[in-house]
Amino acid sequence: MSARPTRRQLLGLGGAAALGLGGAFAASPLIGRLLPPGEPGKLLRSRLPLPARHQVELPIPAVLQPVRSDADADYYEITARRATARLLPGHDTEVWGYQGTFPGPTIESRSGRRTVITHRSDLPRPTAVHLHGGHTPQDSDGYPLDLVGTAGHDMHAMHGGMEGMAGMDAASILPQREYRYPMKQRAATLWYHDHTMGFTGPQVYRGLAGFHLVRDEEEAALGLPHGARELPLMIADRSFAADGSFAYPEPGGGRPGVQEPYMNGVLGDVMLVNGAPWPVARVDRAWYRLRLLNAANARRLRLALDPQPPGGGALVQIGSDGGLLERPLRHDSIDLAPAERFDVLVDFSRYPAGTRVRLVNRLGSGPTAEVLRFDVGGDGAADEFRLPERLSTVERLDPAKAVATRTFVFQKDDRHWTINGEGYRPGRALAAPKLGRTEIWRFVTDFHHPVHLHLDPFQVISRNNGDPGRYDTGWKDTVDVLPAQGVEVAVRFNDYAGRFLMHCHNLEHEDMAMMAEFTTE
Ligand code: C2O
Ligand code: CU
Repeated sequence: MSARPTRRQLLGLGGAAALGLGGAFAASPLIGRLLPPGEPGKLLRSRLPLPARHQVELPIPAVLQPVRSDADADYYEITARRATARLLPGHDTEVWGYQGTFPGPTIESRSGRRTVITHRSDLPRPTAVHLHGGHTPQDSDGYPLDLVGTAGHDMHAMHGGMEGMAGMDAASILPQREYRYPMKQRAATLWYHDHTMGFTGPQVYRGLAGFHLVRDEEEAALGLPHGARELPLMIADRSFAADGSFAYPEPGGGRPGVQEPYMNGVLGDVMLVNGAPWPVARVDRAWYRLRLLNAANARRLRLALDPQPPGGGALVQIGSDGGLLERPLRHDSIDLAPAERFDVLVDFSRYPAGTRVRLVNRLGSGPTAEVLRFDVGGDGAADEFRLPERLSTVERLDPAKAVATRTFVFQKDDRHWTINGEGYRPGRALAAPKLGRTEIWRFVTDFHHPVHLHLDPFQVISRNNGDPGRYDTGWKDTVDVLPAQGVEVAVRFNDYAGRFLMHCHNLEHEDMAMMAEFTTE
């Protein structure tokens, strides 16, 4: 057979995986030739000496204050702009940041209370802002053609060069946009980031990402670790040019997407947590809440504590993308694909004072195998927290009640990443689910693809017709689909009729057209 698999071969393979033959196929030597190697991307090496690890303190992004509040809403204003940041010792890096910072400021919302954010941009390119995990009506969802920017951005120069960018005429650029979030959703770790048609990869890479936390009564009643003991951790790999600037292999000429050799994904060699390289966090011998977010363009992570405390099970998962699990779930390590969030508790009193506990990435090597270090100090302020056996009640979507089953095949063609054989085209919907009805959506892949749905979360019901994986529990909005897998999820869209997106959250795949629309009605 030829070296390059045809679409039919990949489809056949994916179909086989979806039917539960994945195990048998994965064992066959055929797969080794058909599929790219395990790393979902290509390493871009920094052109400067990497800084020593564990030298800087973990920064925590500031919480943004509303400019005003009324009876039922809080109003915020954010401007995206260029700024100089000291990310690496001895170097200046230009970031494109919300309020000029990377990560952007953290927004905190109360469930059920409207949050209204006016975004402006002084960036050289327009931006669309998406609240990832938000249950948001279409007009505030950050559609990739609903742009914010200064006049004079030439959309045709930006997108004219790329096939499949038809429909760009519909783009609109406004000097500011008001994003209205009803926040009719449970407590969860959300994040906001750029979603510009064809340019999401380079723009998130330069810094356009921040946390948006939703809190509610149910969560508050658990008395989870908070204040200095609640740490949002935005983990992202980056590479740097010799002058300290972010290195991203743009195709040049203002064209969208990424240079061809990096089409599988851009991997960096510096691990940043909240924008700092391999930082250190000083912790008390007490319970901590870590809100883990994989904000990398393409890199998958397998996070573990090293050393493990005696008895293991140090990472106590209490929540996933869509909020609290029913009960805590103990892990020795956690796999996170891009855009996934895991809400995790760690009891550092299981370590003696003075222990240095590294958060490591078991899928990395050399510099990318290290992430963060916790230096365990004394007992600190009294720790009242007791881990409850039950956290929440999670409604189970019943697959037997599904009114439709739809299959989406994620695969590469000659030049693009496609869904059901099509590159993204604005205005063309691949599905029209009915609001309030459960459906089964199956995602079938050739390669690693973290599949993400806008509007509402879903529940994983099977992988290759077997049980869901150990990281699939709870409400998810992004699922880590492994090469040649078929993953089935139950999903029910609620409340908002309109046009929404599904896409691969490997940002290079997304920019190279692995995105589609569905309409809810
Ligand atoms: Cu995090 Cu459509 O994106
Ligand atoms: Cu992908």
